[in-house]
Amino acid sequence: MRRIGMLTSGGDCQALNAAMRGVVKTLLHNSKEPIEIYGFLDGYKGLIYGNFQMLTGKDFSGILTKGGTILGTSRTPFKTIREPDANGVDKVEAMTQTYYKLKLDCLVVLGGNGSHKTANLLREEGLNIVTLPKTIDNDLWGTDMTFGFQTAVDIATTVIDQIHTTAASHGRVFIVEVMGHRVGWLTLNAGMASGADIILLPEIPYDIKKVIKKIEERDAGGSKFTIIAVAEGAISKETAKLSKKDQKKKAEKSKYPSVSYELADEIFQRTGREVRVTVPGHTQRGGSPCPYDRVFASRLGAEAGKLILEGEYGFMVGYKNREIVKVPLEEVAGKLKYVDPDATIIKEAKLLGISFGD
Ligand code: F6P
Repeated sequence: MRRIGMLTSGGDCQALNAAMRGVVKTLLHNSKEPIEIYGFLDGYKGLIYGNFQMLTGKDFSGILTKGGTILGTSRTPFKTIREPDANGVDKVEAMTQTYYKLKLDCLVVLGGNGSHKTANLLREEGLNIVTLPKTIDNDLWGTDMTFGFQTAVDIATTVIDQIHTTAASHGRVFIVEVMGHRVGWLTLNAGMASGADIILLPEIPYDIKKVIKKIEERDAGGSKFTIIAVAEGAISKETAKLSKKDQKKKAEKSKYPSVSYELADEIFQRTGREVRVTVPGHTQRGGSPCPYDRVFASRLGAEAGKLILEGEYGFMVGYKNREIVKVPLEEVAGKLKYVDPDATIIKEAKLLGISFGD
């Protein structure tokens, strides 16, 4: 008998179910011994408090196309993982106890950056862990791509596409704020895919004068509208000069709900132009995974199942240079993958005339 625990942790994304289905199908089709699946509910919380459901192959049938996660998810911040909960429960000890009490052979964690820190901690505590890289942000170290990302790119692209026609009719400046936390992968890809004129990323602090110059150039060239794709984590050159602590203070004191509204106000004050802001927000994480993500998550899930069958633990199944690879968890945990401002894709975008406000 092989006993496999499984949980989804952190913000959800598309293809979580497809990935879990991939793991379970691989195990059920290829294991010589019977498999028991323990699905922990709502992320690490389920493991801490022993909240789980026994699942069978049937539970994973018909979920390839289903968004969200059948196990539920939640955020369990790594920075407080060593602090006891309100009832004095030692969370790390509780998780290892649940694992040993259920006699699990392995725990499969589907998570992003924070979840990988906890997964690595559990590995250090002696648990057999295999992880899968999920997040629309694509910011996980050790993999060129995370599942959920391509679907979110599709959604954000569709939003900007829709904005194009109304922006053109009214001759307005439109700002579309794209998710991505502190990195710009989603904005860069959706911005390029939708023909945005200006793309502002956290990795390339913007100069408002350069942003306005681009709008004015477009005006002068007869294009009376401008589309700006702004990452939710984008920052100005002035803000970038501040310490991280002062940046946080500035954001807390700001009268604007987000960087897009501050930018919109600045553009209006300096040019008198009509500016509108669209924030697609969590729609970018919702709905059915795109075909790419279905295939990608299924492949990652199959490889994770294979690792489990071979008893190889302590790895994230990732994707490097078009190959599925296993990456040691200690290499992944605690590192973010940023957009390199000198990357060829940025240079190519600039050749296309896209401004990054730098
Ligand atoms: O990490 C995924 C993500 O959607 C980020 O892009 C975004 O900043 C964050 O989660 C939003 O978190 P929440 O769902 O907790 O509001």
